[in-house]
Amino acid sequence: MTTNGPATGRTLRVAAQVALNAPSIFNTQPWRWVVEEQSMQLWADRARQLLVADPDGRLLTVSCGAALHHAKVALAVAGHTADVQLMPDPAEPDLLAEVRIGPDHEPTSDERAAYAAISQRRTDRRAFTGEPVPVLVVQRLIALAEREGTHLAVLRGGEIDDLAILAARAAELQFADPAYRHELAAWTAAPNAPANGSGVPAETAVSPSPRRVPIREFAPPGLPTLDPGDGTDAGTLYAVLFSDEDGPAAWLRAGQALSALLLAATAAGLAGSPISDVTEHTLTRERLRHVLAGIGAPQLALRIGYPPAGTPPASPRRRLGEVVNLTG
Ligand SMILES: Cc1cc2nc3c(=O)[nH]c(=O)nc-3n(C[C@H](O)[C@H](O)[C@H](O)COP(=O)(O)O)c2cc1C
Repeated sequence: MTTNGPATGRTLRVAAQVALNAPSIFNTQPWRWVVEEQSMQLWADRARQLLVADPDGRLLTVSCGAALHHAKVALAVAGHTADVQLMPDPAEPDLLAEVRIGPDHEPTSDERAAYAAISQRRTDRRAFTGEPVPVLVVQRLIALAEREGTHLAVLRGGEIDDLAILAARAAELQFADPAYRHELAAWTAAPNAPANGSGVPAETAVSPSPRRVPIREFAPPGLPTLDPGDGTDAGTLYAVLFSDEDGPAAWLRAGQALSALLLAATAAGLAGSPISDVTEHTLTRERLRHVLAGIGAPQLALRIGYPPAGTPPASPRRRLGEVVNLTG
C-alpha cells in the first residue's frame, strides 16, 4: 500500500525540518530541498560552499549526504520507505538526490533509536574518557558504514599517531593561508555567523590543549570556549570513512554513513566529532590514503568515545523556509 495526498507532502516538509539537525562542515547547512507531494529533491547550495577549505565541494556534498540520511530516518519513523536516487540527472550536478515516497513501512527499533538521537546529538570536541568503545558497538558502526555503501577503517596504535601528525600538518597548511583564516572567521566569529542560524559558535569549540589527535581550532581568540575537560581520549575510537570510488555519489554515501554512525553512537551513550581538515588538503588526504594502505579514497576521519559529564551547547540552525521550496 502506498500513501498518497497532501499528508505525504507534509511529511516530506517535516523530514526537511528534521534534516536541519544534521551535522555539516562549519555548520554551513549547504542544501536546499524542493518538496513536491510525493517526492523531494536535494540540491547543493553553492553559495554556502567553503571555496578555500573545500574547493571541490566534497565536504559540502558529504554534509548534504548527512542531511539526506536524517531525512530518511524521519521518513522511516513516519512510516514511509524512501526510494532514493543519488545524482539523478547528469545535466544537473547540483541536484544531489531525488527522494520518492515508497510503500508504507513499520519503523524498526534501530530507526526509532536513530530518530530519538537526532535532537540529542552534538559535535563533541571535548576529550573523551579512557573507557574504550565496546567491540560490539565498533562492529555495528562498521556494519552501518557498509550498509550506506562506504567503509569504516578503525585505526590502531601507530595509525592513530599518523592521523595525529596529519591533523597537525593540515592545520598548519590551512592556517598559513590568509584566505583560509578569513573564511574560518566568516563562519565562526560572533556575532555574524551564529546570528544567521549557521556557523560554529565559540562556545562549542574547545580551547586549545594537547590532544591525542589535534582538534580543529574553531574559536576566534578572546571568546569564551568549551573546556576540553580532563579526559585523555585514551578510550577514543579513531576511524576513517573511505570509499571505493571518489566523486559526488561517493561523497553523498560517506555523508549518509557519517550521519548513521553519529546517531548510532549517540543512541549508545557515546559522542563524536568529525575530523575533516585531513581530507580537505590534497597533501594530507593523499597521505591518509597511504595510512589506509591505498585500499580506498578517504572521505573524512572521526573520533567517537564516552564524553565527560554534561553536553556541549547546541549550534544554531537555519529556518525551514530558508531551505525548502515548495512546488505543485
Ligand atoms: C563533512 C563534515 C566535516 C566536519 N569537519 C569537522 C572538523 O574537521 N572538525 C570539527 O571539530 N567538526 C567538524 N564537523 C562538525 C561540524 O562543525 C558540526 O556538525 C557543525 O558545527 C554543527 O554542530 P553540531 O554537529 O553540534 O550540530 C564536520 C561536520 C561535517 C558534516
